[in-house]
Amino acid sequence: MVFDRLKPLPPLPTTGTTRRRGYTVDTMVAFAAAVVLTYLYVTVIRAAQSQTLLPWTFSPLPVGSVLPKGWILGEMQTMAEGLAGHEHDFYVYVNESRWLYPQGEGGVDYSDLNEALPYWFNGLVPLAYLLDDARLKGQVHSVAETVLSLQTEDGWLGPEKPEGRNFWARAPMFLGLTQLVEANSTWEEPVIGALRKFMGLANKMLHNNGEGHAICPPAFECYWGQTRAHDLIISIQWLLEKYPSSQDTLLWDNMDMLYGLSKYKWVDFYQPGVYPRVVADPTTSNPQFPYLHGVNAGQGLKASAVVRRFSHDESLVEASMRAVNWTFQYHGAPSGTILGDEIERDLAPYMGSELCTAVETGYSLAYLYHALGTNYYADRAELVIYNAMPVMMTGDMWAHQYMDQPNGPWATFNKKDITQPNGPYLFTTAHSGAATTFGLEPQYPCCTVNHPQGYPKFVTHSWGLVGDNGLAHILLGPSKVETSFATIECDTAYPFDNTLTYTITSDKGFDLFVRVPSWYDPDKSSIGGRVSALQPDAETGLHKISIPSGTITATVTYKIGATIRTEPRANNTVAVYYGNLLYALDVGFTNESSYPHAYYESQGPGLDYLPFPQARDYYVSWSKPWSVAIDPSTLQYFGMGQDAALPKPIFEYGAPPTYISVQGCEIAWALHLGAAPGLVPANRTCVGEKNTYKLIPYGSAKVHMSELPTVSF
Ligand SMILES: *[C@@H]1O[C@H](CO)[C@@H](O)[C@H](O)[C@H]1NC(C)=O
Ligand SMILES: *[C@@H]1O[C@H](CO)[C@@H](O)[C@H](O)[C@H]1NC(C)=O
Ligand SMILES: *[C@@H]1O[C@H](CO)[C@@H](O)[C@H](O)[C@H]1NC(C)=O
Ligand SMILES: *[C@@H]1O[C@H](CO)[C@@H](O)[C@H](O)[C@H]1NC(C)=O
Ligand SMILES: *[C@@H]1O[C@H](CO)[C@@H](O)[C@H](O)[C@H]1NC(C)=O
Ligand SMILES: *[C@@H]1O[C@H](CO)[C@@H](O)[C@H](O)[C@H]1NC(C)=O
Repeated sequence: MVFDRLKPLPPLPTTGTTRRRGYTVDTMVAFAAAVVLTYLYVTVIRAAQSQTLLPWTFSPLPVGSVLPKGWILGEMQTMAEGLAGHEHDFYVYVNESRWLYPQGEGGVDYSDLNEALPYWFNGLVPLAYLLDDARLKGQVHSVAETVLSLQTEDGWLGPEKPEGRNFWARAPMFLGLTQLVEANSTWEEPVIGALRKFMGLANKMLHNNGEGHAICPPAFECYWGQTRAHDLIISIQWLLEKYPSSQDTLLWDNMDMLYGLSKYKWVDFYQPGVYPRVVADPTTSNPQFPYLHGVNAGQGLKASAVVRRFSHDESLVEASMRAVNWTFQYHGAPSGTILGDEIERDLAPYMGSELCTAVETGYSLAYLYHALGTNYYADRAELVIYNAMPVMMTGDMWAHQYMDQPNGPWATFNKKDITQPNGPYLFTTAHSGAATTFGLEPQYPCCTVNHPQGYPKFVTHSWGLVGDNGLAHILLGPSKVETSFATIECDTAYPFDNTLTYTITSDKGFDLFVRVPSWYDPDKSSIGGRVSALQPDAETGLHKISIPSGTITATVTYKIGATIRTEPRANNTVAVYYGNLLYALDVGFTNESSYPHAYYESQGPGLDYLPFPQARDYYVSWSKPWSVAIDPSTLQYFGMGQDAALPKPIFEYGAPPTYISVQGCEIAWALHLGAAPGLVPANRTCVGEKNTYKLIPYGSAKVHMSELPTVSF
């Protein structure tokens, strides 16, 4: 255990903005040096090190051991009945993916990265198995069978280009395949066999000057695989951990090379003097672009924790905390996601965040808690999945946004020809104009295929093992967990209500741990009916309850006391929370809709031939005032009644039963480039009467204001 993880971080320098790294060195020389250093590292240092992976702090359970219950089951069923569960029926980047055709014999994809089917598969495998949905299981089995059957003689999996191969899209495909093996052992033999064959080929390619990773056609695409190398390393570690074999030395060699040959190492980015608090050049020509891309940043949060498992470098514990802390301090949204539009810039409340960023951030934070056990990560994993993710989908989950903004009172077609002095500037509402609309594939298809992993991975990671004989509830919510020593059901409306009831079935003695969120109020919290009895570990937040042997069934009630919290945001504004839910100003909801549009043709009549009329594009707008300043001293929370049931779907506008009331007034507020509410005005003079306003759970407030200016009455 490292005890100094929470010590204050070194401050960032206070002068200057983006200090560029020294990219002026001849890249060929740098590359050659990297290769030499990597081999030295592999041959000399590695030989002296024992080839063991550092253990998880709390081992994740295999897919299928933790199942959703209650409202989150309802959400996942809605997902299965919505877009995610029907992409295989009609969405051409899935049903006609290049992965499903022999090399060069057809198939389509939205980019040469060929990531659409892998993204879909990575989310649909756990969705199908956690719901035990025969239709969806049939789809993932058929895709797995086809993909494995098309493995080339030499071991490659998936499409390739005549100019060469690129590892990246294998990462999400392998994450899907390993989840399939965990959920269903019938797939063990074919999947492990195919992965081993692939890893043999990968070893030869990496030894061949880093083919497919350090050299990949066209060259610019290398950075995707390099910034995301750890996602491939996760599957290698899974093989080492679950299926040790004579191939292990080769697998270690692959890990070393995948990491060593990456020009982009996240630990190098999160360094004082390197990490930009404000990004002066938020364009692709910024040499830091691969790190600044919002989705990469979300995926990269876990990178150092993955690397630490094989490098045994304990300094990566603090590096991980620094990465998460700085990311959210300088580029975080109140909803728990990362502001990156699509490049990180600053904290302006009109900055957008991709739906892909929310789900990847959720997975990274869950991984970080399992790997390192620091409570902060688990709080933030809940925050992003309970707020940032659901706000970006319609209640029925047939339509989603590409970009959400902390202050986004409308999500309408909003094309602006926005060009900044330093070149085209990727602002949410620019480009196709469709980025904030809800639809089939607004702006770009990646989030259509990547969003389904959000809830299923969250549920799988919601419990973890503590040693051999302990079980911890990590990400709180309604769920059922089954291990060799206990079955536990947790019934709760959390995070809408903060009481959790555990029903435990076990004949062996074991330790149950419940995680205590950092925002809990000790005086209002209780365990087993005893107020102030919670004794959470300072690092992990876990409170231990010993379940004696001979117990057949037991019930434990855990109440987490909460109070309204406000967090200061830029320019004298606040974000309002109760428990782990963010509350946003209710600006109402009106919508118009059309046939869904192809991402490359966001205007015009749309696609009228799709077999599912539920697939539509929605243009959503406010119907109540949005330019409101609030008096935080008047905030008042209204919880759900004792027996209130949560509707399905819960994140529909108007569905959640909880809300907060507050006194406020309208103020004058200018727009940014005519497209979205601008920076929050300093002048807080009321332009109307003082009124009572309502704040509602952010996930249900499809259009909203969440960074609210303050006034004092
Ligand atoms: C980052 O850490 C500092 C203390 O080192 C803390 O004050 C701050 O709230 C943290 N930021 C976030 C976003 O958690
Ligand atoms: C894929 O879906 C489209 C409908 O969007 C359909 O026209 C096509 O036939 C499907 N392809 C296959 C191989 O099923
Ligand atoms: C496991 O996979 C096999 C092969 O696809 C399938 O026949 C079987 O029904 C699956 N088992 C479960 C429990 O889904
Ligand atoms: C805060 O306001 C100042 C002055 O209007 C502005 O320069 C700055 O960018 C604002 N910061 C944010 C994060 O909105
Ligand atoms: C759009 O509005 C109509 C009624 O005007 C409503 O029936 C429908 O549910 C709304 N769509 C969404 C996605 O909320
Ligand atoms: C502040 O806003 C009010 C209302 O719009 C306006 O009348 C007043 O002139 C503004 N004050 C300043 C100093 O700009």
